[in-house]
Amino acid sequence: MSFTEKFVKQCRKPSGRFGKFVARAMNFGHTGIRRWGLSHTSINPDAIILDIGCGGGKTVQEMALRTPDGKVYGIDYSEDMVQLSKKVNEFFIKKGLVEVRYGTVSSMPFADNTFDLVTAFESYYFWPNLIDDLKEIKRVLKPDGTLIIANEVYKDDKFEKRNTKWAKLIDMQLHTPDEYKEFLSEAGYRFVEIDKISQKNWITATAIK
Ligand SMILES: C[S@@+](CC[C@H](N)C(=O)[O-])C[C@H]1O[C@@H](n2cnc3c(N)ncnc32)[C@H](O)[C@@H]1O
Repeated sequence: MSFTEKFVKQCRKPSGRFGKFVARAMNFGHTGIRRWGLSHTSINPDAIILDIGCGGGKTVQEMALRTPDGKVYGIDYSEDMVQLSKKVNEFFIKKGLVEVRYGTVSSMPFADNTFDLVTAFESYYFWPNLIDDLKEIKRVLKPDGTLIIANEVYKDDKFEKRNTKWAKLIDMQLHTPDEYKEFLSEAGYRFVEIDKISQKNWITATAIK
């Protein structure tokens, strides 16, 4: 297996020393998608936010910088990512501004109507029951809360060869922009907007509870 294949295979559930290396690389490599995705919403200083599939914790950290009167939670189903996110966010955790928990998107350890904003960067590809998982996110969002899903890959003929190779390698689900709209509506979100950067194959879905 090539280094690139070994690297990509870690993206589903990074673990071990190499997984932590990959997650740190993603912390850096996902700067563009993170900033573009977050540009689709405003973040109040007192916002309560959840990042699902927080990986190496950089998105949690960037959002914590913007919420001095709020709190940012991260959740991941890889124990090693929980550990790494905690390390990366040690400063904010000590100040009580960040909390990182182990858990899966399908059943989250949070009460109903908790969050103003829920984000998921490069994570939805791996969720086991998309519609039910989106309903679970809706449960923890406050009324009028926002969900942002941002990904560097979506189903598009222009990128089919590359995307099919990756999807097979790590069993990744991909959808067209219309399908994003359909599954978010089916999960019960009342406002759904899709934005794309077609030449890069990037997508951001914004949905309001
Ligand atoms: C490609 S990495 C992206 C990490 C980070 N969001 C970033 O942008 O760098 C995907 C992350 O989602 C997590 N993940 C995948 N499926 C998950 C699930 N069902 N529940 C919680 N976390 C999940 C993985 O463990 C991994 O840390």
